[in-house]
Amino acid sequence: MRPVAARSRLGQIRLPIRTARLVLRPPRRSDVSALVPLVADWRVARPTTIPHPYRRSDGEAFVRSQQRQRRDGKGLALLIFDRRTDRLLGGTGFHSIDWRDRRFELGYWVARSEWGKGIATEAAHAVCLEGFRTLRMHRVHAAVVAFNSKSAHVLRKLGFRLEGREREQHRDGRRWVDMLRFGLLAGELRSPPRRASRR
Ligand SMILES: CC(C)(COP(=O)(O)OP(=O)(O)OC[C@H]1O[C@@H](n2cnc3c(N)ncnc32)[C@H](O)[C@@H]1OP(=O)(O)O)[C@@H](O)C(=O)NCCC(=O)NCCS
Repeated sequence: MRPVAARSRLGQIRLPIRTARLVLRPPRRSDVSALVPLVADWRVARPTTIPHPYRRSDGEAFVRSQQRQRRDGKGLALLIFDRRTDRLLGGTGFHSIDWRDRRFELGYWVARSEWGKGIATEAAHAVCLEGFRTLRMHRVHAAVVAFNSKSAHVLRKLGFRLEGREREQHRDGRRWVDMLRFGLLAGELRSPPRRASRR
């Protein structure tokens, strides 16, 4: 699909996306100060492709590259905010969109202080729902390093199935780690259990 057509398809998503507790919207340059300390935490970056150490210039480059991706209709990164307080909680988004085969890669991270409150599940559910309903995607896929059982749990809760294991695909310090590949087809998405709206 040509970038203009892809961009207009992406434009069908009504932003911001709102869920019971969260607001999801594309990153802006003014988000960089809040973003950097959260993703600079090694516990957040370790199972992802987020560079470490993470500096202000990385945050600025991230915002620029995501704006370009969106303009070209190749992806839509979203930051996750607390609906009540507007505080930045994490990030998610539609990555590597393949319009021909109607699939995209799901990614997410949550600030360390907010883990275990169902935020990744709620945000990822909203992204998948928009992907299937608004973008008419057929498939969502996600890759998880084998030691990241929390993330695998998030995906399983949403209905993703384990589809494969890539041996020693990821370098974790001096270790090689397997990568687990998960997939979700249209019609397979499960709703997460509702959590109290005040966290
Ligand atoms: C993975 C991550 C996004 C999860 O975010 P979160 O908001 O804490 O996730 P949720 O609260 O929605 O769900 C976590 C689930 O894992 C469960 N869990 C916690 N520790 C676990 C463990 N060791 N093994 C398996 N499940 C575990 C929690 O109980 C919860 O499930 P529940 O709701 O059924 O109780 C967050 O830990 C993170 O940002 N990690 C670093 C970045 C990352 O890994 N990104 C994903 C790359 S694929």
